[in-house]
Amino acid sequence: MKSLIELLSEEAKKAFDKAGYEGQDIRVNISARPDLCEYQCNAAMPLAGKYKKAPLVIAEEVAGILSESPAFSRVEAVKPGFINLDASGRWICDHINEMAGDDSFGVDKQSDSTVIVDYGGPNVAKPLHVGHLRSAVIGESVKRICRFMGCNTIGDIHMGDWGLQMGLIIHEVSLRKPELPYFDESFKGEYPKEAPFTIGELEEIYPSASKKSKEDEAYREEAMKATLELQEGRRGYRALWDHIMNVSVTDMKKIYDALDVHFELWNGESTVQDRIPGMVQYLKDGGWAYMSEGALVVDVARESDKKKLPPCMILKSDGASLYNTTDLATLMDREENYKPDRIIYLTDKRQNMYFEQIFRCAVKTGITPDTTELVHIGFGTVNGKDGGPYKTREGGVPRLESLIKEIDDEMLRKISESNREKGRDISPEEERETSKTVALAAIKYGDLSNQASKDYIFDTDKFTSFEGDTGPYILYTAVRIRSIMRKYEEETGDKCPCIFKGEPTPAEKSLMKEIAGFHEAVRSAFNECAPHRICGYAHDLSDAMNSFYHGNRILGIDDKDHQKDMIALIGLTGRLLETCAELLGFSIPERM
Ligand code: ARG
Repeated sequence: MKSLIELLSEEAKKAFDKAGYEGQDIRVNISARPDLCEYQCNAAMPLAGKYKKAPLVIAEEVAGILSESPAFSRVEAVKPGFINLDASGRWICDHINEMAGDDSFGVDKQSDSTVIVDYGGPNVAKPLHVGHLRSAVIGESVKRICRFMGCNTIGDIHMGDWGLQMGLIIHEVSLRKPELPYFDESFKGEYPKEAPFTIGELEEIYPSASKKSKEDEAYREEAMKATLELQEGRRGYRALWDHIMNVSVTDMKKIYDALDVHFELWNGESTVQDRIPGMVQYLKDGGWAYMSEGALVVDVARESDKKKLPPCMILKSDGASLYNTTDLATLMDREENYKPDRIIYLTDKRQNMYFEQIFRCAVKTGITPDTTELVHIGFGTVNGKDGGPYKTREGGVPRLESLIKEIDDEMLRKISESNREKGRDISPEEERETSKTVALAAIKYGDLSNQASKDYIFDTDKFTSFEGDTGPYILYTAVRIRSIMRKYEEETGDKCPCIFKGEPTPAEKSLMKEIAGFHEAVRSAFNECAPHRICGYAHDLSDAMNSFYHGNRILGIDDKDHQKDMIALIGLTGRLLETCAELLGFSIPERM
């Protein structure tokens, strides 16, 4: 179904046509001066030159025709040639009723195109840190938005599971427990089923190995050798690698579950290693890859580049594959297995140039067809209140878990305090449950409400506030609606009606106009991979809902027909807020 703005624009277009004015871009916009009118159409201005008439003359002629349209309750041509418009209440009402009658609120689904979202990107054996929050949170929301639009979506975590960190762990374990069979090359039996370390130990082993490798050249070389041997398939190392993966992935799953982030594929850099030799051969045979300063590279620069893009490196001078090689092989794998129409990557924006190289290389060499849309969303840094990258009190990079805990604790404190103030008797379990749900909304909304490419400040106090542009504010509004609905049902025994029958009051019309923005919000969120559009919509809708609530008696009124209409309107608002929450990746508690 068309959006309200599109429908109003169509009416305007028809009027211009009828008056004999043909224009490219005849549109109605939400008024920049809501004190003067609800909508405006400025299309007479650019047509003045073409038709050699004063814009006001054109505007007046068109306004005359438009005033006959059932879509508008007021039409006025004003100097120098604008058309000011108010939409008719009944007309908006019909539109809203049509939205309410559809599960997706009348948003037209895209075709059943396949979208792969490559997000999360944790590195095995290294703890998740604050940078991984953004990839997970934005990626999950982008995926949900694509799914809502009807795409077949596949989320791939793309773990870093094949690099030096693996060799470092293997080498360190070999020093600590040399007696283990993994290190005995003559061992032909079955390796133990149980891992030789716990997650706690693994988390201590990696940083200590990493530290040693920086201080000790020989140690580093041994770790590199272990990495290479692992990659070449040394049996004991592969078995040990399996253990590292199991222990680490189990732990990762816990954190991603707590974030309500779920991947369809748990692939990683290791998944496509077997493809690399074939791919390298393919790149050589096609004449794309050549040796430069000992390394194998593919040129990706273009004449039109303002800044020359360096070649994409395929193999290092020692013949080792690298991050690039794996990403290209992964593209090959994705094409073969899923034929995606769109692949969306989420990483720190410092990888912008890297992905440009990869995308160009993949398309140039036919690894990815040029009909596949390759998108990189490079996100900004999470900063502390001092403006620098967010740090722990000790100055280190904060672990994702501790960040989540910080928000959890503060949310629990605020919710218990508010329950006490309101004299509510709520069990500690329910309080904890609720505050977890709200905390997740706080952390996700705090991130998603910013345009992804921008840095933002991690501000626990602001994120957990019940007021302002925050997740808890959206939830609070949705919970308020639920409670009105519950009371209405209890009092009347009726289910929430879907249809608004009467003539809307100005306050109702205001809320309807906000509601009608859903189509534009979801479409732009989808086209631009921009969850912040959903946040903006949910926030404006919540504001509109709350001012409606404060300005109108709903449950206590005698006019039951009018009450039904209000309930229908609020019910739709609630459904929309729940959908926004779902698209952003959080849910709404029963009460709060
Ligand atoms: N593991 C990488 C990192 O921590 C992110 C992976 C992103 N995805 C990709 N296909 N390269 O930076």
